[in-house]
Amino acid sequence: MKICVIGSGYVGLVAGTCFAESGNNVICVDVDQEKIEGLKRGVIPIYEPGLKELVLRNCEEGRLSFTTDLDAAVKESLVNFIAVGTPPGADGSADLQYVLNVARSIGQAMDGFKIIVDKSTVPVGTADKVRIAVAEELAKRGVDIEFDVVSNPEFLKEGAAIDDFMKPDRVVIGTDNVRTAEIMKELYSAFMRKSNRLITMDIRSAEMTKYAANAMLATKITFMNQIANLCDLMGADVMAVREGIGSDSRIGYDFLFPGVGYGGSCFPKDVKALAKTAEECDYDFILLKAVEEANTRQKRVLSDKIAARLGNGEAKPLAGKTIAIWGLSFKPRTDDMRDAPSVTIINALLELGAQVRAHDPEAIKEAKKVFGERISYSHNQYEILPGADALVIITEWNEYRNPDFDRIKSLLVNPLIFDGRNLYQPNRLRLEGFEYLPIGRNGKGACCE
Ligand code: UDX
Repeated sequence: MKICVIGSGYVGLVAGTCFAESGNNVICVDVDQEKIEGLKRGVIPIYEPGLKELVLRNCEEGRLSFTTDLDAAVKESLVNFIAVGTPPGADGSADLQYVLNVARSIGQAMDGFKIIVDKSTVPVGTADKVRIAVAEELAKRGVDIEFDVVSNPEFLKEGAAIDDFMKPDRVVIGTDNVRTAEIMKELYSAFMRKSNRLITMDIRSAEMTKYAANAMLATKITFMNQIANLCDLMGADVMAVREGIGSDSRIGYDFLFPGVGYGGSCFPKDVKALAKTAEECDYDFILLKAVEEANTRQKRVLSDKIAARLGNGEAKPLAGKTIAIWGLSFKPRTDDMRDAPSVTIINALLELGAQVRAHDPEAIKEAKKVFGERISYSHNQYEILPGADALVIITEWNEYRNPDFDRIKSLLVNPLIFDGRNLYQPNRLRLEGFEYLPIGRNGKGACCE
């Protein structure tokens, strides 16, 4: 099948590459000339395991190409994916200007039947706006060309995006046209080996599904974060509680890891946008507002604990203290710093007067755009420890899971670890002579050893 994917960012690039890998002819389009020139030379603008190899192979095989020429790409393609950004506007709602600009460009370019697919995360009702934008352009040209608009939301996780695309738990297709549903099913049939869950539904339900999924997951995490905070106060162990509740199949174990608050390019933005959509319908979605507020507070839990333990009560309570940070990206296996909890935590530590040194396996370049020279960086996780008053873990990269504890102890001023991801067994660390402050397992009940 001939496909064009407009927007060669995270979602567009992964989707386009995976469609090419399954034998389709894919043209990826972007307005950013530099990005497209880079991609033609095999320079991948994001870090995603396995993506580079797939891009290179499919380019070599002639199934994947890159261009800034949207007009030509649309003319050649039957299925046209819109995968451009929908950043939050000033009021929290998703900014649709890029999606609608692309829709208009498709309307200006198309010369035969086209399927136009919303892949970007867009609020309920956007497909109607896309349809109107395309129809207006066709009317301006005085032509009458048939087209269909489809909602096909994306459920990729950064760091596992290729696998998520190739072996999805489900694919959601929102369309009101049987013929188009068949074409979309054919396109996705190659990826239906793990589950045969290609779910077709009306367009508005498909649009809502994406927001409902992300809001549900954000709620799950937030619930567990608040249980963890309570565990700290009550002397219970949140990891034992997770085992206890997760074994109920109605609850399950996933997404119940407490931590420093959720971040990234999706959850914060989508929770805000859904709350905004509710507001526009005069519906008071109190749960979602509470999730957002609780997550904002969760990002302060670690810095508050550090200030309480190391602060001296003055205007700059952490003045003279040096804090070593492991992990900057919002989660492991990505260099993404968007809405990363590390930003809130490090800014708070700097505000309190601390000196901050940080290690991250992939995100230092991106982090420099956020913190500049206000903190120091190292590509070696032990290099930042000598003379530091505490080690703080913000992101659960694998290399932090089994570190050399003797080395850590010999390098730190105090054998003090604040762990925002509960990587270690509290009793073991305490036996090793560390003062260990994880999330929600500070009580005597830290028993899941
Ligand atoms: C998410 C959704 O999982 C994906 O389906 C959607 O398409 C995009 O948004 P992503 O943002 O890549 O994917 O990351 P994810 O692995 O879901 O983690 C999101 C945030 O939640 C991270 O900050 C992570 O640290 C946090 N999290 C996740 C927890 O704090 N605890 C958990 O148990 C799980």
